[in-house]
Amino acid sequence: MGKKIVILTGAGMSADSGLKTFRDEDGLWEGHDVMEVASPHGFARNPDLVLEFYNQRRRQLLSAVPNEGHKALALLEDHYDVTIVTQNIDDLHERAGSSHIIHLHGELFKVRSTGNPGLILDWKSDITVGSKCPEGHQLRPHIVWFGEEVPLLPKAASITQNADILLIIGTSLQVYPAAGLIHYANPGTPMYLVDPKPTLGRGDFPNLQVIAQKAAEGVPTLVADLIRKAV
Ligand code: APR
Repeated sequence: MGKKIVILTGAGMSADSGLKTFRDEDGLWEGHDVMEVASPHGFARNPDLVLEFYNQRRRQLLSAVPNEGHKALALLEDHYDVTIVTQNIDDLHERAGSSHIIHLHGELFKVRSTGNPGLILDWKSDITVGSKCPEGHQLRPHIVWFGEEVPLLPKAASITQNADILLIIGTSLQVYPAAGLIHYANPGTPMYLVDPKPTLGRGDFPNLQVIAQKAAEGVPTLVADLIRKAV
């Protein structure tokens, strides 16, 4: 149904829901050594620290709610064939009502077995050293850490290749391979970037329109515009 819209979202999408971004001033990485809290090596060295870092994120997400940007994106589905490719591990797109969401970097409300990676469980409470899967192995967050494979990348790349319109919202595009996805779009594909501090401009993509606003403000206006164009 309708044209295909692919939406690449990052931490800025959820900033207006009170969840911190990673690289902004006062961002999540400010107080943490990234490799200590988000790498297999860091987990092996200090599992308590890593599990507590994600416990905090999980607790915070329990009380967060989708913002006007998330809600607006869900409305696009009445007029377009929409897929959201998110780097976010929160479930705010789901809770806002979007139906096709690819979580490139995993999901905070899931955990998996360290002994059987295919054993993935829904999980909303804390995990600690000693929290075991039904087969008796330690649980870990279902998150793609630095240095780990991004299993959903090929799927996301092929969907992006077929996009008629590409939206990019709230990502610094610093982290690969996710940032490279925008290059899969066919040359000439209309692109929109919503970010108060955009890292791309027309020099990068002649068909790019930059909306230098926060997601909760810029996305509803853009969505209304796209819906008008769909009819
Ligand atoms: N609305 C929209 N965008 C915003 C807002 C807002 N209210 N506030 C900040 N931003 C923008 C920033 O200007 C920046 O460009 O969101 C972007 C956040 O960038 P990062 O913190 O680098 O987050 P992201 O791009 O999602 O990081 C990618 O890095 O650490 C890893 O796995 C983690 O998925 C994450 C990946």
